[in-house]
Formats: sequence, C-alpha cells, structure tokens
Amino acid sequence: MSEDNSPKSRAFSLIKTLSSTALRAGNEALKRRLNKSDELDSFMSDAALRLVKGLDELKGAAMKVGQLLSMVDESILPPGWKSALSKLQSQATAKDWSYIEPIILKEFGNLDGFSFIEKEAVHAASIGQVHKAQLKDGTFVALKVQYPGLEKSVKSDLKNMKKLINIANFMPNMDNYDHVFDAVEMLFIQELDFIREKNYYDFYYEKFKNNKNIIIPKTIPEFCTKNVLTTQWIDAECLQLWLNKNAKDIHTNPLLIEKRDKLGALLLEVVFTEIFQLNHIQSDPNPGNFLVTENADLVLLDFGATQELSSELIQNYSDLTLSAIQKNKFEIVKAAKKMGFLSRGDQPEAKESFLRAMDIAIEPFLNEKYSWKDANQLKRTHAESVDFMRSTKFRAPSPEVLFINRRLAGNLLIMESLGATVFAREILNRILNINGA
Ligand SMILES: Nc1ncnc2c1ncn2[C@@H]1O[C@H](COP(=O)(O)OP(=O)(O)O)[C@@H](O)[C@H]1O
Ligand SMILES: [Mg+2]
Repeated sequence: MSEDNSPKSRAFSLIKTLSSTALRAGNEALKRRLNKSDELDSFMSDAALRLVKGLDELKGAAMKVGQLLSMVDESILPPGWKSALSKLQSQATAKDWSYIEPIILKEFGNLDGFSFIEKEAVHAASIGQVHKAQLKDGTFVALKVQYPGLEKSVKSDLKNMKKLINIANFMPNMDNYDHVFDAVEMLFIQELDFIREKNYYDFYYEKFKNNKNIIIPKTIPEFCTKNVLTTQWIDAECLQLWLNKNAKDIHTNPLLIEKRDKLGALLLEVVFTEIFQLNHIQSDPNPGNFLVTENADLVLLDFGATQELSSELIQNYSDLTLSAIQKNKFEIVKAAKKMGFLSRGDQPEAKESFLRAMDIAIEPFLNEKYSWKDANQLKRTHAESVDFMRSTKFRAPSPEVLFINRRLAGNLLIMESLGATVFAREILNRILNINGA
C-alpha cells in the first residue's frame, strides 16, 4: 500500500487502477464484438488481474466491492473478470508481522497473555488478517487483526467504485441502486466493529451449542476489542480446500459420499435455522467462512456480515416458499408483491419469469430427497433471474432481500460443488415446524 493513505490519494490510485482497467476492458469488449478471438480473451484476463492487484493493494472498501462484484452474474462481467475477481474472495497478500505487532500492542498494552503468536498469518483478507496463537493457559486461538484506517476510506472508496461501475456500464439504472450502495456502506462499516462480530459469534454459539455437528468457535472476551477478535482455534480445513482435495472421488468413495451428504445437510440446516429461527443471516457465503473437521462436522466462522432480518420479511419469505411448494400461483404472486419482487405495473413476462424462477428454487423440497449433482440449479436460476431483471427494468430489490439472495446463491454454489444428496424437504419442514416432517 502506498505510504500516503489520505482519502484523496486513495481515490486517485483507485480511479487510476480501476478506470484504466475498465476503459481498456470496455474497448476490448467492443473489439471482441467485432472479432472474437482467444487472444483477446486472455488480454481481458490480464486487465482483470491488474484490477485485482490494484484492489489488493488498496485493501478495505475497494476490495470489498471487488468481492461483491465477483458474485454478480457472469454474463454482465467481461470474460476473465469473474475468475480474477473471485481470487479476492479467498486470497489477499498478508502484511508483515512488523506491521501487525504494533496494532496488537496498542489494543492489549503488552503480549503477556500469550505464550506465542505465529508471525506468519494463516489468512489475509480485505479488512485484516488472522494469526494462530496460544494463550498462557494453553488454549490455542485465532487472532483476527484489523488493518488501521479503514473506516475513513469506506465512504470515498465506495463513491469512487460507484463512478467506476457507471463508467464500466455493468448495469443500467444505476440510480435505482442508491439505497443498495447505502446498505453496502453500512455493512462495511459494521464489519469493522469486531465487538459486534464477537457478539454475533456468541449469539450463533448459543443457538448451535447443542448440535454436535455444527461448531462455532468460542470467543475469548479478555482478548476481544474493536480491532482484534480472538476465538478458540478449531483444527479443521477450509471447505474450499476440502472440496478441491476430494473432488476426484467425491461421488465414488463411499466414505466421501457420506461426508458430502452430511455437509450438504448441515449447510441447509444452518441457513434455514438462520432465516427462520434466528431472524438473522450471515450474508457472506465465501467458502473460506466454513471449515470441515475430520468427521465432516461443519465449522462456521466470520460473523462480520451478519444482518438482522425483519419479522415481516421472514413471514413473507416463508409464505413465498410454502406457496411455491404448493404450486399456488396466486399466493406466490401475492407474497412476491409484498416483497417488492413484483409490482402492479409489471409486464406479464415479469410474473411468468418469476414463477419459473420459483419453480426451480423449490425443486429440492418436492420429493423426499434431492441430488445437487448435475442439477444445474444455479445456472438455471441465474438465467431466469436475468430475464426477470430485464422484464422489471432492473428494479433494485430491498437490501435485506439482496443479502439473503447473496447468501442463498453462495450456499447453492457450495451444494453444487459438493453434489450432495440431501433429505432437504425434511430439513425445511422441521425448521419451519410443519407437521408431517
Ligand atoms: N477460530 C478459528 N479456528 C481456525 N481457523 C480460523 C479461525 N478463525 C479464523 N480462521 C482462519 O482464518 C480465515 C479467515 O477468518 P475470517 O473470520 O473469515 O476472517 P475474514 O473476515 O478476514 O474473512 C478462515 O478462513 C480460517 O482459515
Ligand atoms: Mg472470511
């Protein structure tokens, strides 16, 4: 990161890296339309890689927006951008110990509470990095340390990113999205408050403590401050690594099949419990936020992006889900209108497209069990939602809905990577407390 971290200089370097990347990519998109060639595609990836590097150097809000962009539909991003941006989700360059130690010292005064802290970070992300450590009482812990000065850059970075998205012309009707940007800004600012995150760790811990297959690390209150979050270290593997490692045999090795299906069931259990019982959603579905233990128990991490959901929204979501399962079109449309998906003046195509999308979404709950292997649910839903967005002229959903959808799409991506077979109907019915489950 450059030494001069003033808002003005951040804005300048952000615009410099990003607009040159975007403009170049824009030009290339134009050329590509005229002349499709692999060479141009690889050039695009080059532009995308420069974007990632620029965001990585700036850290903070700029990188967060990059992460959000990496979740948008592939079809609205230039080729190569999607995979390059996805890198931001899992990899960032860690800062040296000489940069991190003073931050920890400032929070705790000294390091007397620790037997050791590993100088090499186990993980670096947009707002901080994680170091493994041991407390004097022998407990192994994860120290998540926040980079200083991020709060100041959030607002200006977001404003510049918005300009950039406008230049890149990813989406028409950007003005419709002002309230979404406001919600994203609030989300970023909330994520910087590690006390808030600690409280959410404790909240989820309480809810799941009797479920031996879902693990939430305990927080260590004496070592939790606004800028350092200390949780009990859990020996487990990142879900993404687990998936990569087992991809080859996941559908043939009986032990792996069992683990695959167990993880799939646990992921559904967690997300439905969050929405329908906790009235909260952890809105960041990055696979780095799930770990897998030796027995394929699921570890949940990273509650910075947790959002409370209004009870009205949850009621509407459950009405929508149930009427979709019962194929009651009238009730589906009623719930969709309440939630702002559909509106009186919409063209008939909007309604039809919404109904088709719902049909795809509820497939897993129609029969006793469902296999996500080759189900292509995500791709089919995406295609339908692009049609839907077009027919509603890119009307922006409420931020709450956006956060739920972001998580559900992330969950679906993981379900499909697992290719799990799950008794999904039983799980949903049990959590919604429907008889006959
Ligand atoms: N309690 C823990 N036990 C083991 N590993 C952890 C723990 N907390 C964090 N990690 C590791 O650090 C990574 C980043 O932690 P996370 O809370 O997701 O931070 P960020 O907000 O930077 O994404 C995780 O993917 C995991 O590898
Ligand atoms: Mg994380």
